[in-house]
Amino acid sequence: MATPVRERARIALSAARRRTLALADCLPDAELTEQHSPLMSPLVWDLAHIANQEDIWLIRRAGGRPGLRPDLDPLYDAFRHPRAERPGLPLLAPDQARRYLADVRDQALDILAAAPPPGHGFLFGMVAQHEQQHDETMLATHQLRRGPAVLDAPAPPAPDPGAPPLPAEVLVPGGPFTMGTSTDPWALDNERPAHTVEVPDFWLDTVPVTNAAYRQFVEDGGYEDPRWWHPAGWRHRQDAQLTAPGFWLRDGSVWLRRRFGHTEPVPPDEPVLHVNWYEADAYARWAGRRLPTEAEWEKAARHDPAAPAPRRHPWGEAAPGPAHANLGQRHLQPAPAGSYPDGAAPCGARQLLGDVWEWTASSFTGYPGFAAYPYREYSEVFFGDRYRVLRGGSFATDPVACRATFRNWDLPVRRQIFAGFRTCRDAPEDAGA
Ligand SMILES: [Fe+2]
Repeated sequence: MATPVRERARIALSAARRRTLALADCLPDAELTEQHSPLMSPLVWDLAHIANQEDIWLIRRAGGRPGLRPDLDPLYDAFRHPRAERPGLPLLAPDQARRYLADVRDQALDILAAAPPPGHGFLFGMVAQHEQQHDETMLATHQLRRGPAVLDAPAPPAPDPGAPPLPAEVLVPGGPFTMGTSTDPWALDNERPAHTVEVPDFWLDTVPVTNAAYRQFVEDGGYEDPRWWHPAGWRHRQDAQLTAPGFWLRDGSVWLRRRFGHTEPVPPDEPVLHVNWYEADAYARWAGRRLPTEAEWEKAARHDPAAPAPRRHPWGEAAPGPAHANLGQRHLQPAPAGSYPDGAAPCGARQLLGDVWEWTASSFTGYPGFAAYPYREYSEVFFGDRYRVLRGGSFATDPVACRATFRNWDLPVRRQIFAGFRTCRDAPEDAGA
């Protein structure tokens, strides 16, 4: 493994670890072992699971060493124990979990410094991304936790008040484009291989749907009208008694929201957050529009008609910085719609990466030529109609796990995740002429 690759892995592993510990150290032990929602693990499970995955993939697989605690593998196997039953397991106590994390990391850095056999560089990237994904899950657990606020971060910068208003939608020109990647060193199996997809012209929202726009749907009776809802979504809306996005509370004529222990007015200009796929789909139909397919989303984010190859990020190849996107838990909320002009895509769309995950119309499937790596449970077992794809990452996603080919997936009923959406429409025949 070349030195820059090794250095990149070391930086990514350390950044993830800082965040993991910050998300745990702000709570007393009793809150780490408690389950804050049946949807989530106790945070102490995440801690030892992160260590266990690193033990399996870096110490044993990449390092060829015996491993620190192979006896813990079954306990921390996410497939063996659904989240709801994890609090009943004989889990490591918080101090033991922290010790396991530290001991595994010492050996992993040792193995990294000694240059593991070629081909194992990917495993270090995979393990760093895995920990960062758990940092996002742990932040979602914080959002579900009741009680006083323990996390704080500055608000995202306000957009330039002198900037000209943005158009409501942008045209994404039709024609073939290259979806996925065969060359990105840390791309996961489901992002591979690169393949050509024909996407006709369409008009895409310049920015994600805002709280103000979504509030119109709520106040127009959108939640009471089955016309707008997918049949399964309408049943779920009734069973779960959904009337507004997650964490919204009505106080007379004012909408408030709960955010990491703070109760505050819903900011009208922020992208809407904590809506499930059915809510996003219903809003789009009410607005006379639709959710973009995954291919449409990726084309809007990567396709540059003037360049032969697609971009890694909407703004180009530069690594995501604070001027490009709201990522990495620097801010604990989305930035106002229209922020980050330096992060715009060639089509003019803003905030495709960061702020909120965006639901797409597509189910999660393998690309043509898909090959499972390094194990089927990474992606392949989730392929099919059950899961919908989300794109773009949120304010809670680390930049290292965020690129325009990255695919996330979840059940259409889920809304504890940091997800919103944008809508689109077909372009008429003469569009772009
Ligand atoms: Fe995991």
